[in-house]
Amino acid sequence: MYEFCPYFTNDGSVGLFCPKEDDIYHSTYGALSEAYEKFILPADFEKFFKTNNNIKILDICYGIGYNSKSFLNYFYEILSKKIAAVNSSIDTIDTNNIFYKIYIKAIDTDKKLMFLSPFIKSKKTILDLNLKKLNIPRVEKFLQKNSIGNKKQYKYNKFINLILLRKIIKTHPEIFDDKELVEILTDSKNSQYIDSNMLRLFKHYKNKRYKNTSIFNLSIFLHNIYYKYISKSYKKALKYLKINDLSIDFIVDDARNALKNDLIKYDYVFLDAFTPSKCPCLWTKDFFDLLYKHLSDDGMILTYSNSAAVRNAFMQAGFFVGKIYNKDYDKFIGTIAAKKLEKIKTSLSEYDLGLINSKAGIVYRDENLKLDNFQIKANRAKAVETSNLMSSSKFIKNFRGVNNV
Ligand SMILES: C[S@@+](CC[C@H](N)C(=O)[O-])C[C@H]1O[C@@H](n2cnc3c(N)ncnc32)[C@H](O)[C@@H]1O
Repeated sequence: MYEFCPYFTNDGSVGLFCPKEDDIYHSTYGALSEAYEKFILPADFEKFFKTNNNIKILDICYGIGYNSKSFLNYFYEILSKKIAAVNSSIDTIDTNNIFYKIYIKAIDTDKKLMFLSPFIKSKKTILDLNLKKLNIPRVEKFLQKNSIGNKKQYKYNKFINLILLRKIIKTHPEIFDDKELVEILTDSKNSQYIDSNMLRLFKHYKNKRYKNTSIFNLSIFLHNIYYKYISKSYKKALKYLKINDLSIDFIVDDARNALKNDLIKYDYVFLDAFTPSKCPCLWTKDFFDLLYKHLSDDGMILTYSNSAAVRNAFMQAGFFVGKIYNKDYDKFIGTIAAKKLEKIKTSLSEYDLGLINSKAGIVYRDENLKLDNFQIKANRAKAVETSNLMSSSKFIKNFRGVNNV
């Protein structure tokens, strides 16, 4: 039986716990906030789309799809703005100006998560915003104590789930035969996390499928239950779905296998694997060698990890490496790897480089991209044990002493 363990993260978006790994898929801080702050905003897509109309994205560890969803939402926001700027009448728009070709390859070993992804509620009603309207000092105190008052309110339009569902149905029609999926979706204890309109839509598609009619036309039913939620600007963007070529490949496989025979070069790679100690196979120097081959010359890899071993592995694979800085929290929240130095906005500091040159920077290895996580971890532990490099704790102590920090 598949274990589906959802919870609400601090920004109102749904996060998951993984019993097998004894780990969370999403930060309690906010699943959606994390996707925006670590993957979407640092990528600077707005700048990218000023000079490019084609984009290829590799979403490694798609899970329930926050990174791809956030990208699509961001893209449709840019597109909506562009449509509004070009002309307010949809019929007279010069389509050359707003034609985009989008390709996403989404990889994950867990097919169930991929199937679940369009059904996950985009966000629960934000309690603190409703409470704030009351303007009661005690409520204010409660919000501060629970640190939910100052969060930026990221969101993605429900219409993104609709796009994903239609893509998944098209490429993986076996979704209709997944009984366990239906059990999860209809289990009353999960109802607060599931978008009931998407479930109704799924049932509608399923019935249509059995009646052998086309499921890909936007039906009146869909119009009624879903279209009404979509803002005016999104409706215009949705019309442009017909001319804006969006394709998504959902690959259920180990990312190492999935990329071995892939010939595509990507503009952006989202690397969102479990931590290096849980899933080292996606953080090795050897996997990064493979990613190097799949990154376009102007591309970048984004990840939440700040690990010295990960940064060193990127460097050894030939990338320039920098940090993701979040000025709202004055914190470094991840790592960027690129083939061009100009893509790096925040360089590694003397401290980061020192840590990379200590035992903490010893990389994970997986020469043939076949080892299991346990073996990769054991091999690194051995390399750390036999290394003559300074320990990370000694390096940190020395660094603090010399720099008076
Ligand atoms: C931290 S979660 C990713 C969360 C995801 N980005 C989301 O928005 O929900 C890590 C994911 O890695 C997947 N995974 C684990 N090992 C993998 C592998 N070798 N190749 C591809 N995916 C893997 C897991 O199934 C899990 O969904």
